[in-house]
Amino acid sequence: MATVLVTGGLGYIGSHTVVSLLEAGHKVIVVDNLVNTNAAVLDGITAITGKKPQFYPLDLRQPETASMLFSKHPDIHAVIHFAAFKAVGESVEKPLDYYQNNLNTLVYLLQEVVKKPIAFIFSSSCTVYGQALELPILETAPVLKAMSPYGNTKQIGEEILQDCCLAYPHLKVTALRYFNPIGAHESALIGELPIGVPQNLVPFITQTGVGKRAQLSVFGNDYPTPDGTCIRDYIHVVDLAEAHMAAMNRLLNLTSKASFEVFNVGTGKGSSVLEVIKAYEKVSGRSLPFVFAPPRQGDVTAAYANTHKASTVLGWQARFSLEEAMASAWAWENKLLS
Ligand code: UD1
Repeated sequence: MATVLVTGGLGYIGSHTVVSLLEAGHKVIVVDNLVNTNAAVLDGITAITGKKPQFYPLDLRQPETASMLFSKHPDIHAVIHFAAFKAVGESVEKPLDYYQNNLNTLVYLLQEVVKKPIAFIFSSSCTVYGQALELPILETAPVLKAMSPYGNTKQIGEEILQDCCLAYPHLKVTALRYFNPIGAHESALIGELPIGVPQNLVPFITQTGVGKRAQLSVFGNDYPTPDGTCIRDYIHVVDLAEAHMAAMNRLLNLTSKASFEVFNVGTGKGSSVLEVIKAYEKVSGRSLPFVFAPPRQGDVTAAYANTHKASTVLGWQARFSLEEAMASAWAWENKLLS
């Protein structure tokens, strides 16, 4: 069993990954500055697993945080690094906050990680592909110029990691390029906690479903897709959490020869905005009020993963359907009302 440091471990994807790690018997240390979540998530994790990870409410933007964590825990085998800002629109308004948070924390962590053979897993994003020319998207597709500072931090993050792998041959890194994470743990004890008006589709749908929002605006209905709305690869967050376990096991078991690897983490299936709405309507038994609105700037027409590499190399593939993911998102939204 491994000792795993999870940064941003109380966030949306982080908390689900902490649950998977604890359920598999690993020792988990969580660091989270709580700027985009709250400490009650720890109670949800504990209620699900019956275990409480060691928690540090600290900010990795302070360089001494990483050094303190590694000197207190010399036995860390793996780091799963989620801690980052993730709102595309906000990153355009506050680019320096994004570069400072997403890149400085990565550098401070790596300054400690490179001292020992520690496995490192980085949260990257399918945003690095932009509008890929070929679908489904392979990991070998070109990385296009980022459309936002947020996307750029993911591209630069991958480059920093590749440079470190060259300089420190014992370093093993996996970057997971997430497609669109949705849904919540089946217990509805943890899930996504969007601050303010949700920018992402699924929390906007479920908030509309419970009456917090009047209606959904579907951004664009004239795209060159079968129903005119954009296509994405929506992946259940619990599947995504499991992908981190698979990536970590590969690094710890030294089955990886390459020192830097990237994997797409998606279902391989594209769904349009209207299909997501239909899935919501089926699982909730309600109809969703929506209107068509102009396209959102920066949106690509279609993006979904080729998952061959993850399934053959990591031995991982998504288990949950879009409807199952929507049902869990709906249960979570209802839980938030109580
Ligand atoms: C967004 C980010 C991406 C990030 C991902 C996961 C942008 C441009 N991209 O991806 O970098 O990795 O979230 O956090 O923001 N939609 C509506 N109405 C809404 C909201 C969304 O029609 O109110 C549509 C969008 O046009 C898109 C789809 O739903 O076609 C999914 O949108 P969203 O959930 O924001 O994800 P992405 O834009 O794919």
